[in-house]
Amino acid sequence: MDVFLKGGEIATRNLTPGINVYGEELISEDVEYRLWNPRRSKLAAAILNGLENLDIKNNDKVLYLGASTGTTVSHISDIAYDGKIYAVEFSPVTAKKLTRLSRQRPNIYPILGDATKPKEYMNLVEKVDVLYCDVAQPTQSELFMKNMDIFAKEDALGMITLKARSIDVIQKPKKIFKQEEKKMIEKGFKIIEKIKLEPYEKDHMAFVVEKNF
Ligand SMILES: C[S@@+](CC[C@H](N)C(=O)[O-])C[C@H]1O[C@@H](n2cnc3c(N)ncnc32)[C@H](O)[C@@H]1O
Repeated sequence: MDVFLKGGEIATRNLTPGINVYGEELISEDVEYRLWNPRRSKLAAAILNGLENLDIKNNDKVLYLGASTGTTVSHISDIAYDGKIYAVEFSPVTAKKLTRLSRQRPNIYPILGDATKPKEYMNLVEKVDVLYCDVAQPTQSELFMKNMDIFAKEDALGMITLKARSIDVIQKPKKIFKQEEKKMIEKGFKIIEKIKLEPYEKDHMAFVVEKNF
């Protein structure tokens, strides 16, 4: 994965030199880099915490659920510069910003849609190498698995970031993560890696999974 260390911080090579996306610093060298803020992006937090098993390549197809305004999507767009990022977001206001971003970055395909209803965008998305899910909803692992079943290539990897408080405000995070892990294993998913997102995000856990076909 094309992620670079710049003065102790991580960065991606800017696909749109001279333009930043969320106020991040640009670093001009032989090429231009954008610093990747782990407090704004859970994928950056996972990378800084030692993520080992999610490799996004330059020509990968990625399905991203919960794209918001495109903070993390924009860094994936830098990494998978020759690929495609199908970015699903269900808030029309937020998706507007995402659409604006996609005009600058031709590898982003914004989709105004509900990730709990993947059949509604089935005709817009092809099979993908990587499926990333960050929707912060109580049923996030269910909708993640549903999308994996439809869109994952046989050797695809999925990454889901779970926020304990979005699932249950009373139970202990450890117990919630165990329950969600069990659900995925029971549905035929193999857990490849688990990674806590502290100190960047409290009570969050990211899982990298594979579907057993
Ligand atoms: C935590 S934010 C995502 C931040 C983003 N992933 C990033 O790193 O830049 C969660 C987003 O998921 C969206 N969302 C929640 N439920 C959704 C659903 N069922 N389908 C699509 N998007 C959803 C929300 O509108 C919100 O923008």
